[in-house]
Amino acid sequence: MLLRASLLGFGASLGALRAVGAADADVDNRSICGDLMAQANTGDEDSFYFWASDVQACLSSVPFYSDPALRFLEYYNTTLQFQSTLAFLKTPPGGYQQPAVDVVDILHRIETNVTAGYYQNQYDFEVDLQKLVLAIHDAHVYLNIGVTTPFVYGSPYSISSVSIDGKEPPKAYLTDAIRQAQHDGWTWTPSPISQINGKDAVGYLTDFASLNSIGYVESHAEWNALMGHPAQDIQGWPNVWQGATTFYPGDELTFTFENASDPLETFWLAYYTYPLEAGPIATSGDMYNFFALGLYPAVNGTPAHPVPKSNVVAKRDAVDTNTGGDEGDWLEPSGEDGNWAVESSGAYPEKPDVVQPDLQISGGGIVTGYFLHELSTGVLSLPSFSQYGDYLSNFTQTVQEFIDGAVQNNLSKIIVDLQQNSGGEVVLVMDTFLRFFPGREPFAGSRRRSHHLGNVIGNATTAWWSGLNPESEDDFSDWELGLVDEWVITPRIDAETGKNFENWQEYAGPKRHLGDDFTLVERYNISDVDFIYEMFGGNLPTDYLEDTGTDAFAAEHWDAKDMVLLTDGLCSSACSMFVELMTRKGARTVAMGGRPASGPMQAASGSRGARAYSSSSLDGDMAVAGLVDLEVANKTLPNIPPNAQTRDPGLWSSAYFNLRDQIREDEFKNNDAVPLQFKYEAADCRLYYTLRNLYNMTQQWTDAHDAAWRDSSLCVEGSTGYSTAGQTDPAHRPPPVPELAEAHRPFPKTYTPPTHKNPGTAAPASYPDFAAHHALRRQRPVRGQHEVHGSQSEVPQEDGRRAPAPVKACLPVCHGEDGCAFYKSNMALSCKPFGSRELKQSTVLAPANVGGGWGRGEQHARGRGAAQAEVVLGAVPAYVWDEDGWGVSYLITTLVKSSTNQTI
Ligand SMILES: *[C@@H]1O[C@H](CO)[C@@H](O)[C@H](O)[C@H]1NC(C)=O
Ligand SMILES: *[C@@H]1O[C@H](CO)[C@@H](O)[C@H](O)[C@H]1NC(C)=O
Ligand SMILES: *[C@@H]1O[C@H](CO)[C@@H](O)[C@H](O)[C@H]1NC(C)=O
Ligand SMILES: *[C@@H]1O[C@H](CO)[C@@H](O)[C@H](O)[C@H]1NC(C)=O
Ligand SMILES: *[C@@H]1O[C@H](CO)[C@@H](O)[C@H](O)[C@H]1NC(C)=O
Ligand SMILES: *[C@@H]1O[C@H](CO)[C@@H](O)[C@H](O)[C@H]1NC(C)=O
Ligand SMILES: *[C@@H]1O[C@H](CO)[C@@H](O)[C@H](O)[C@H]1NC(C)=O
Ligand SMILES: *[C@@H]1O[C@H](CO)[C@@H](O)[C@H](O)[C@H]1NC(C)=O
Repeated sequence: MLLRASLLGFGASLGALRAVGAADADVDNRSICGDLMAQANTGDEDSFYFWASDVQACLSSVPFYSDPALRFLEYYNTTLQFQSTLAFLKTPPGGYQQPAVDVVDILHRIETNVTAGYYQNQYDFEVDLQKLVLAIHDAHVYLNIGVTTPFVYGSPYSISSVSIDGKEPPKAYLTDAIRQAQHDGWTWTPSPISQINGKDAVGYLTDFASLNSIGYVESHAEWNALMGHPAQDIQGWPNVWQGATTFYPGDELTFTFENASDPLETFWLAYYTYPLEAGPIATSGDMYNFFALGLYPAVNGTPAHPVPKSNVVAKRDAVDTNTGGDEGDWLEPSGEDGNWAVESSGAYPEKPDVVQPDLQISGGGIVTGYFLHELSTGVLSLPSFSQYGDYLSNFTQTVQEFIDGAVQNNLSKIIVDLQQNSGGEVVLVMDTFLRFFPGREPFAGSRRRSHHLGNVIGNATTAWWSGLNPESEDDFSDWELGLVDEWVITPRIDAETGKNFENWQEYAGPKRHLGDDFTLVERYNISDVDFIYEMFGGNLPTDYLEDTGTDAFAAEHWDAKDMVLLTDGLCSSACSMFVELMTRKGARTVAMGGRPASGPMQAASGSRGARAYSSSSLDGDMAVAGLVDLEVANKTLPNIPPNAQTRDPGLWSSAYFNLRDQIREDEFKNNDAVPLQFKYEAADCRLYYTLRNLYNMTQQWTDAHDAAWRDSSLCVEGSTGYSTAGQTDPAHRPPPVPELAEAHRPFPKTYTPPTHKNPGTAAPASYPDFAAHHALRRQRPVRGQHEVHGSQSEVPQEDGRRAPAPVKACLPVCHGEDGCAFYKSNMALSCKPFGSRELKQSTVLAPANVGGGWGRGEQHARGRGAAQAEVVLGAVPAYVWDEDGWGVSYLITTLVKSSTNQTI
């Protein structure tokens, strides 16, 4: 993952970039991984940047072993049985814009390939898995596994897609050129990129966007995911093009411009993103041990193996990074809070009318509000719903201040800007909705697959919870945490009866559709204060207390028709839920950007699932189910291991999936209800970004205002009339699945198993130091014998509770230098001050729970005033002690792959 702070200085650091053991034919590749990791482990400013080709040479030299791979496939297949959309992915309904994929079948193909000795190296195996993950097109589904975990690829140059006048189809530009031209008062006009690596730029980018689509249901969102945008800058995320590219994009990168000036020649970069100490990795075999199996190559810090020397060839000394613009001080972050102007190169106004406390790129505040008096419009900027601790109630407070201020100023219209919002806390979605529409309880119904293993866990856990006595001191904490546990169903409401479910079995149904089984539809009980309290992680905003005399939730100030949600298709997860709740009440949507093609665009194309869930939480759930009901463990072995052990994942990994689907109120009673994920939900209007509005948010809001309320002909041609906002029968039907998507089908319809065995499966003689772990090929790693990183270890206690065993781990997300010092001294963590120049969300420590929690283990953190951690991207569970000596589970970010926050 590319770090923004470093990004801003890339001109300087790129010059210092060294080629590590360049991949020339005469270079001994055996040591390229060693060289690379030696540099990465220094933790220096420059140590996170590599040439993509060097990283690729290393990764493709990592050996492959079929035994751990097969065990992983079993683990992953079991995990994906919890993915709510398997049947719909296999047979998508009309209007779905991506190719069908039969997940279980592709896993079977991969398994067959493993058995047949097809994979040449670990990387090729992981690439097939990642292709499957991306084919699911659901941002809640992602996988951090093995050697692909520590690196992502990216371009040293950001690009953006804008139209000259809002009518002409957009073209790609260097983002810096746009910013510089604006900074220079438009005294010159940047030139569009005509070709990339000799191919037509639009074609190149369309292919690239589709291949590296991180969980989007529509190609317009895939396109936008590549493009630089101010709402990304203020959050510190790199886009897919610049620093979240999954697949090796090649070595050279050449931009050709329409103005026929000299092409810009550069190279693809790779970014090292593994935040923990990786140990002395000398060879490709070590690379396998550490990243694929989770084993340190050396015991007690002494390298066990001699580090082979390599011919480090400095292939290129430096790259010309001159973008035609000077790196003026307008690019430097000021570090001051209170507005987004500096972080966004002047795109956001300097004087917001409403600001959440601690608003800064490395801080926790995110909400700003702007009163555009000339337009009588208030703009509420919500680029994320991801918040933690105190910030949760400060978020809600700022939203309320915005509403109060807009009322006081008699503003007649509201724009909620959700661009780049990849989700966060469900409770903030509910809260924000209720502040605009008080008393109109949101439906927010959802359901999951009803299958044997899930029902075993649900049966056992719900029955156990129902037996707890909240009046008893011993039971209270478990009871409280159980309120938001995914496997305790009785606190949730049956959408059909409006009453709480009585037991799991009642919820489990099943309702049968498309050859699969589903549960009944559940709703959150938001009138249960205990539940809301838990959803806010114990930081309940005062508005919810009866005796504070607050006016919040008192009046509805705007008609839905006077409210517009501004999105860019990237809206995912909690954001998509917000769009759903608001549009069902009649708020309209304006979607920005998309491919250079006319026609409609969907407003929220990220995950529209109701709940992201992780394999490690599931491991914990299974262990708990086995603990609270010993018979359960026996009945379902090997899936639920006895004695609170966790499942064997085979390979070190962290997998996420979508546990629950959002289901619409007018459909939930039917067996054939279609998950929101598969519906075609067009925005009411689509607008292209323009040269003049991309880095001028006021202009974007003005353009959205004009298109929504003054002149709908400003919308992109053919983009109106498809929306279902406030109605069920739009004038136009969804367009058919584009040929474009079919052309990018990642797996052919038919499968021919490989015919001959690949000799490379045997342990290569060239990695002598790998012999120590050679035996792992045949036998399962013995738990506890090696130091395992990133894996859950727990000590079952007599009372059935799982006490987490402390492991020494680096918490990479320390909150600035002070936070690091705190963790260092209080928790014996070796903590790199990585956080100080980290991405926004990953610099924060947050309650590890949202709307059901990240799993029981982590929930112990809450209600005890314990320090808390938040998951941002891929996460590994680990345990530390807090001040009280209580075992607290943390999820440690690994900063990989997806640019979406997966709280939901
Ligand atoms: C090193 O790797 C590169 C790129 O994969 C390959 O072209 C070259 O032949 C390899 N060299 C050796 C000695 O294996
Ligand atoms: C995955 O699990 C499903 C359901 O249990 C089973 O039918 C299928 O054979 C499994 N596939 C693999 C590759 O293990
Ligand atoms: C051509 O366009 C590029 C990118 O906008 C710019 O850097 C360069 O200066 C332009 N060249 C000429 C001759 O206008
Ligand atoms: C939240 O706001 C309150 C004042 O309203 C302030 O005291 C507190 O420090 C804020 N929290 C954060 C995390 O900024
Ligand atoms: C769940 O419990 C019910 C009632 O005890 C039982 O009939 C059902 O078989 C159980 N389901 C599973 C999957 O164990
Ligand atoms: C579970 O299975 C083990 C081994 O088969 C057996 O020893 C144990 O008694 C069983 N426990 C229960 C509660 O059925
Ligand atoms: C941004 O747009 C607004 C509204 O059109 C305009 O008043 C302002 O001057 C623009 N700012 C810049 C930096 O171009
Ligand atoms: C499996 O092997 C075949 C060759 O027989 C190859 O074409 C395919 O890409 C591999 N992966 C999958 C998922 O089918």
